[in-house]
Amino acid sequence: MTKEEVEKLWMDNPESMQFLKNATKFYNLMMMYRCAIREIQTKLEVLDDEFSVENNRNPISFIKTRIKKPNSIYNKLQKMGHDFTTENIQTYLNDVAGVRIVCAFIDDIYMISDLITQQDDIKVIEVKDYIKNPKPNGYRSYHMIVEIPVFFAKGKTPMRVELQIRTNGMDFWATLEHQLRYKKGIEEMPGYEEISEELLHSARVVIEADNEMQRIKDKIGMFHEI
Ligand code: GTP
Ligand code: MG
Repeated sequence: MTKEEVEKLWMDNPESMQFLKNATKFYNLMMMYRCAIREIQTKLEVLDDEFSVENNRNPISFIKTRIKKPNSIYNKLQKMGHDFTTENIQTYLNDVAGVRIVCAFIDDIYMISDLITQQDDIKVIEVKDYIKNPKPNGYRSYHMIVEIPVFFAKGKTPMRVELQIRTNGMDFWATLEHQLRYKKGIEEMPGYEEISEELLHSARVVIEADNEMQRIKDKIGMFHEI
């Protein structure tokens, strides 16, 4: 079937035509979020590269990125009482584009967040410091919502990206906790309270390990002198 024949088929059916238009708009917006992630990722890699040349070590262990899945976008908008439109996605959701930055040490987290904040094309929309103020379940990470301009053929578009900056320890804990929490019906399981208590205890162990590594690094100090 030629492109013209396909288009005629859609045009003969107004409902399908509308669906196609909306789907195209949606995938275009997802492409824009993917580009915003690329912009932020490059900025982070530049900072990591520069630091490693000057200090002989990489503050960033690894970076993970993700685009929110269409059904999660739909469910979140639904929960907020908004229709599933590209306009509402851009207005109400901050976490369609997500970047997780995993660092070796706690002070690397604050260094990276400061250096990102100082860049004059970046606008910080929101910061949540779950390191200084951990969640009651023990979750820790430094969260930022930033807006970054992306240059498309149609012009400059500010795009929002969620950054989660954490240590290897925090990431290890959060990944396991996430896996356990999303097990079906875990909350009804006998002993769930005990499991939550154990998770909280393991979070405290990770805090101790993070603080200990930071303390040893400060003591050695040589990382900054090489
Ligand atoms: P969401 O609606 O879940 O996006 O939360 P929010 O808008 O209140 O934002 P918040 O900054 O609290 O959390 C954003 C993201 O951080 C979540 O989508 C998770 O990826 C992560 N996160 C937050 N709390 C927890 C937690 O208790 N455990 C784990 N494993 N991840 C968490
Ligand atoms: Mg989220």
